[in-house]
Amino acid sequence: MNKKKPLVIVTRKLPDLIETRMRELFDAHLNLDDAPLSKAALIEAAKTADFLVPTLTDKIDSDVISAAGPNLKLIANFGNGVDHIDIAAAQAKGIQVTNTPGVLTDDTADMTIALILTVARRITEGATVISDRAWKGWSPTWMLGHRITGKRLGIVGMGRIGQAVARRAKAFGLQIHYHNRRRVDSAIEEGLEATYWESLDQMLSRMDIVSVNCPHTPATFHLLSARRLKLLKPHAIVVNTARSEIIDETALTKMIENGEILGAGLDVFEHEPTISPRMLKLVKQHKIVVLPHMGSATLEGRLEMGDKVIINIKAMVDGHRPPDRVLAAML
Ligand code: DGY
Repeated sequence: MNKKKPLVIVTRKLPDLIETRMRELFDAHLNLDDAPLSKAALIEAAKTADFLVPTLTDKIDSDVISAAGPNLKLIANFGNGVDHIDIAAAQAKGIQVTNTPGVLTDDTADMTIALILTVARRITEGATVISDRAWKGWSPTWMLGHRITGKRLGIVGMGRIGQAVARRAKAFGLQIHYHNRRRVDSAIEEGLEATYWESLDQMLSRMDIVSVNCPHTPATFHLLSARRLKLLKPHAIVVNTARSEIIDETALTKMIENGEILGAGLDVFEHEPTISPRMLKLVKQHKIVVLPHMGSATLEGRLEMGDKVIINIKAMVDGHRPPDRVLAAML
């Protein structure tokens, strides 16, 4: 007799290959038109699903968790960041949470380096001159950016992505500095020739470029506060491919408006997908470079994220512990 397939509710459109595999393995309820679910729809999904597959655009708060039905065993997040999920509430209700670590490390690190180069070398500004048909020809003193070789890069968060950024940055001749909750293994530090700063304040005041690569947790909310941003050098560049909440966005905007730092490259925003009018003005003035949360947006990465979601669900269906569990104590 055929065993009943578990009901898996997926909140957003996933790559076709992943959806096909999910259909084969599970009773998969997919979201083919990709419209984000309302809170009521999320609650409904949590009530009925055996497995819920949300993404960062779904707020899985205590209301959603407390409405969850008895069948909900696992919230298998499609993505690395889990700051949109109330992990403690889920855990208290016996619902496990998994994410997709490791598979978007290189893509996010690539985008970090791209943003560093784009800001320092004024790449979008130059490209706009061409598309605006405003180029008057080469000149020795026109459109000068800044060399990144030899500059000091301060990485905030030296986990997988921070280390991948460091490896790339080292190849570009940047000097690697980092701040992390814990000092990394000495072999990793030596390989990267990285300098550890226990004091974030001290590191920030000495860096030419700062890259935010830590997760957003209660401990990292506004880690780069207005006070800390004031420690930056006037020629500093700030890059954020992690989560907007780690930087006080209003304070950063004000400092760039006032010319207190050189610029910023941002892939994440406080009210995504809305970007504040003040920030948009800075984009037009070429003082900041912004991207629409594309750090991990590669086809390869999305497929591997989907594979991880399937593996986590399948492990649990087969009576094993899902490999990518996130526990409240880890945050
Ligand atoms: C994640 O997985 O958390 C990323 O931010 C998605 O790009």
